[in-house]
Amino acid sequence: MSASLLVRKLCAGYGPMRVLHDVDLEVPGGELTTIVGPNGAGKSTLLRAISGIIPRAGEVLFEGAPLPDRPSAIVSRGLAQVPEGRQLFAQMTVLENLELGGYLVSRPERAERLTRVLNLFPRLAERRRQLAGTMSGGEQQMLAVGRALMGKPKLLMLDEPSLGLAPKMVDELLAIVRRIRDEGVTVLLVEQNVAKALAMAQSAYVLERGAVVMKGAARSLLGSEELRASYLGTDARLEH
Ligand SMILES: Nc1ncnc2c1ncn2[C@@H]1O[C@H](COP(=O)(O)OP(=O)(O)OP(=O)(O)O)[C@@H](O)[C@H]1O
Ligand SMILES: [Mg+2]
Repeated sequence: MSASLLVRKLCAGYGPMRVLHDVDLEVPGGELTTIVGPNGAGKSTLLRAISGIIPRAGEVLFEGAPLPDRPSAIVSRGLAQVPEGRQLFAQMTVLENLELGGYLVSRPERAERLTRVLNLFPRLAERRRQLAGTMSGGEQQMLAVGRALMGKPKLLMLDEPSLGLAPKMVDELLAIVRRIRDEGVTVLLVEQNVAKALAMAQSAYVLERGAVVMKGAARSLLGSEELRASYLGTDARLEH
């Protein structure tokens, strides 16, 4: 069975400020689950709390076993996170960035992963010797996702991978995310393109002011009047 994530009564914040209030979340193995919500709702905070970048209270189970809140433990258990903003090594080449992403996997396996990632992202293959900092915004996002995949994750958490990209590039990137899911990786996707995210996800959560206010099958949320009124434009049903 593919890797599942279960979050119960998660609370987290920054210093004395609590951002997340008793968040429950279930990410079934092999599926794509999306989290949407307005700016400042706590979506990035939720991903940070799951991966242990910030302290948390509550329970996080990965493949049925508790996940300690240390980023190093998270990586060795098979979780990878692509944070908001790309955090690449700008002065290193595409290839060097990818190799760094695979530092924990064995050398032969790293070579195999590299082939797969370059297959998945032909743009990265074309530009493998280019300095990461000189790549376009969309190419850098692809590199960030590709680098996370180099670690052979079972669960990939993506924080707004399409931020700032032109629609065509957004579609290209999201198509790759779907393919990653189809190849058996569990995906938790925070996405600002609500209609697109709901169209590709199995289940979805709406986060507002640090709490889950709606959840369900992505298809049914896409048809929900309430969600439509808050998050989707009138022509959202036309997007697929
Ligand atoms: N490092 C930090 N220190 C203090 N407060 C923070 C920090 N990061 C985020 N916050 C606050 O936590 C709240 C939730 O922020 P978060 O970044 O999780 O929202 P978000 O849902 O990801 O928003 P966006 O869609 O704009 O990315 C906000 O009020 C934000 O100002
Ligand atoms: Mg965010």
